[in-house]
Amino acid sequence: MPSDDRTTIDPEKIPVHVAIIMDGNGRWAKKKLLNRVKGHEKGSDTVRTIVRVSRELGVRYLTLYAFSTENWGRPKAEVMALMSLLKKFIHSEKKEMMDHHIRLNALGQIHRLPGDVKETLKKAMDETRDNDGMCLNLALSYGSRDEITEMVRAIADKVKHGEIPLTAITEDMIASHLFTAGMPDPDLMIRTSGEMRISNFLMWQLSYAEIYFTPTLWPDFSEKEYLKIIADYQGRDRRFGKVAE
Ligand code: FPP
Repeated sequence: MPSDDRTTIDPEKIPVHVAIIMDGNGRWAKKKLLNRVKGHEKGSDTVRTIVRVSRELGVRYLTLYAFSTENWGRPKAEVMALMSLLKKFIHSEKKEMMDHHIRLNALGQIHRLPGDVKETLKKAMDETRDNDGMCLNLALSYGSRDEITEMVRAIADKVKHGEIPLTAITEDMIASHLFTAGMPDPDLMIRTSGEMRISNFLMWQLSYAEIYFTPTLWPDFSEKEYLKIIADYQGRDRRFGKVAE
């Protein structure tokens, strides 16, 4: 059954939280004999499309893996180019975010970002703070192991100082010490480019997410394919470890 247009999408079963590992920018550029940065530039256009489609469908949280803690190890020029693209994206999308009530949020070690990027990001987060539409989470200098390590330190510190007893450590309490505190876990996680890994992304939060791997490289990822994946997600039987009714 063709499922690449909106008539095949059940508006009652839109995933509340979609998380995406946007992979394959470098390979896209290489295939076209272009510099890797061109792949990231084209990838930014895909980000714009997917943000728009998510908002139009009624997705409440969209989390995009834009820069991992490991990505700091890339050549300096590529890191700088990614940072500059990010700044450009926030500037150019601010009006769109305000017009459509999108709240911008960041997950990760924001303190490690270059000063100008940090300022631009903080300003946009501040300006969009009260928007009640979709929440756009950019995972920046994000790593799940780092996030979990920080959570353990924070909770251990509270126990050490007698602020909480050991029995107060529950799954909810752990979740409230992660960057995603107060947000529902992702329902759907998509990774592009054919790699079938989680790569240190939301390891606690993805426990019950439906996972979808596509060979498409991120710059080629389209509205059409996104809709197809959402239609596929809607056909899945989510049992959360229980039995079907
Ligand atoms: C993975 O492709 C992608 C990244 C490391 C960065 C993602 C960044 C963007 C999509 C653009 C900027 C972001 C925003 C939010 C505007 P890769 O370089 O690892 O590709 P490869 O595996 O083919 O080399």
